[in-house]
Amino acid sequence: YNYHVSRSLQEILDQLFQGLRRLEYRGYDSAGICVDTDDAPEPAACGYGDGDGAAAGNGHAHSLAPCQGSGALDGDSPTPIVIKAVGKIANLEALAAEYVAANGTDVAKVLRHHVGIAHTRWATHGRPTPVNSHPHVSDPSAEFVVVHNGIITNYAAIKEILVSHGEEFVSETDTEVIPKLCKYVYHQLGTKLPFPKLVMEVMRRLEGAFALVFKSRHYPGEMVACRRGSPLIVGVKVPQGKGPLASFRSFSDAYGGAHNSQAIEVWAASDASAVIEHTKKVLVLEDDDVLHVAGGGYGIYNAANRGDEAVPRVLQTLQLEVDQIMKGGYDHFMQKEIHEQPEALLQTMRGRVMFRRPDDEPSAYVAGAASRITLGGLVDTKATIRRARRIMFVACGTSYHACLAARQTIEDLVELPVVLELASDLLDRRAPIFRDDTCVFVSQSGETADTLRALEYAKTRGALCVGVTNTVGSAISRATHCGIHQNAGYEIGVASTKAYTSQVLGLDAKVRALAETLRDSQSLLFFARGSNYATALEAALKMKEVALIHSEGILAGEMKHGPLALVDEHMPIIVVATRDGTYAKMQSVIEQLLARDARLIILCNEGDERMQGYAAGSRCQLIEVPQTVEQLQPVVNIVPLQLLAYHITVLRGHNVDQPRNLAKSVTVT
Ligand code: G6P
Repeated sequence: YNYHVSRSLQEILDQLFQGLRRLEYRGYDSAGICVDTDDAPEPAACGYGDGDGAAAGNGHAHSLAPCQGSGALDGDSPTPIVIKAVGKIANLEALAAEYVAANGTDVAKVLRHHVGIAHTRWATHGRPTPVNSHPHVSDPSAEFVVVHNGIITNYAAIKEILVSHGEEFVSETDTEVIPKLCKYVYHQLGTKLPFPKLVMEVMRRLEGAFALVFKSRHYPGEMVACRRGSPLIVGVKVPQGKGPLASFRSFSDAYGGAHNSQAIEVWAASDASAVIEHTKKVLVLEDDDVLHVAGGGYGIYNAANRGDEAVPRVLQTLQLEVDQIMKGGYDHFMQKEIHEQPEALLQTMRGRVMFRRPDDEPSAYVAGAASRITLGGLVDTKATIRRARRIMFVACGTSYHACLAARQTIEDLVELPVVLELASDLLDRRAPIFRDDTCVFVSQSGETADTLRALEYAKTRGALCVGVTNTVGSAISRATHCGIHQNAGYEIGVASTKAYTSQVLGLDAKVRALAETLRDSQSLLFFARGSNYATALEAALKMKEVALIHSEGILAGEMKHGPLALVDEHMPIIVVATRDGTYAKMQSVIEQLLARDARLIILCNEGDERMQGYAAGSRCQLIEVPQTVEQLQPVVNIVPLQLLAYHITVLRGHNVDQPRNLAKSVTVT
């Protein structure tokens, strides 16, 4: 959104495409944009709610355009351009360029008032096709245009009502009901509500999770965005030299003309990475918040209040730097994030680990020299956690594996029963949770819908809810009673790595060579036990999600109860056998596998002569890692296996950072 800020149409398109590229990792089977080709008129003094339909607009000649809808008003803006394409953002850009050339659109034209919206889609309802892509429009003349992140669960009921009123649907999506509902309510009311008020009327009828951005021909130069359940942040920029921007206090402020002389640019996005290039001043919208941008200002209202008064939301300053979201010399984000792990680990410990010795080397900690660990976020609830009957960890995907890896250490340290729950399964079972439970919700993004829903459920059961996330201001960090931020830095690659661990080794070339020998495998097995069972599961997950190779993590204690039948001289098996409490048992696992001519790769500690003995002259290869304290060994062990998945993926020619069908933040259940 820009107002009184001169931008060419080309610049506006570039900003939207760049924003999409930054968010592409969240979901990316298709994409779309909507832009105007003319300046939106400045808002009228105030013409809302008077029932005569003569409203916004100051009579700019170019604001009038043929409209097929019944409610065309003076001041409506022309039909905007909507372009959609399947696949990567590059496809959309190419299509936009074709459109511009074919229609003689003047992309050099400078626009001072403009609302543009864009979207990348990860299909939930309906295949990735242009027609199912966003933005969705209410009708061919695009009276209302909407982009949506989330799922509307009652869309079928809404669709039925709209169809009975003669609406025709063109897509298979849940989202299409939203612009159509907007249009329906707009024409039903017989009075022109302020745009955010109209959106509240629509929100009242929607169930499910959503972050939405709206533009409308009936509200030229205005943008509305709202959220419930799905994240949405807003970046605000006032040109240098201008004072701080005051937000609207009520709807009438927006149309009162008071702000119209100000220059302002606003970006609404699912996360900060799309905004950071433009401004560091952001607002984090809360559930049911409705953002209204009009003229030279903005206001935030809350649909749950349904009042006309704005709600206070404080502008925060982002701590993120642009280079944190760039690849910085690496070929892929996943590679960068694996290599960033030592720094991420240090950041996680910084200020929390007090050493006996004055130096602040992490090796001192590994050597057992740490004297005190303080987790500031848990200070007030420490006593309650101590009195808990049990600790329950709840997470999804890689975060669940991180919990599994930490379980034994936590059991040893706190001497309380520790149970692990996959968030979706916990919800399916509505498993019993008690007031004296402490539930810990672990999520890199802090936005995973299943984890968030499980958190809401645990709260209703009266448990103390603790968050562990890597994202300040995320939904989970706000909804928990207390918690810890990982401070591991931004993670872009869809497949989580550094949020799992933080340690890197000089093994890259060796692992790459090993990857060459495994690149054509149909299937891979990972055997381990104890805390390294998490290592096996996580390594298998990485192999599936990025290298697209079928893979299983197997608890080696269960080997004889089934998995041994899979073993032959062809199937590559990676065995984790570092020196810990299960080392002796893992040796016997290796013996049994070798006795069946298995093709083994053993992950062991450096200088382990027994393992070197297995490797000498047999079909067995070694990956050697440094030894550390037993509790931290899984943290080290996963790194070469992350690298293995990375290199195999590159060798097979797959997209490392954006694996097929997967999204970074799964904000739908
Ligand atoms: C998605 C990602 C995974 C991640 C999981 C949980 O499936 O692709 O890499 O582990 O969500 O995400 P969270 O942000 O809650 O840790």
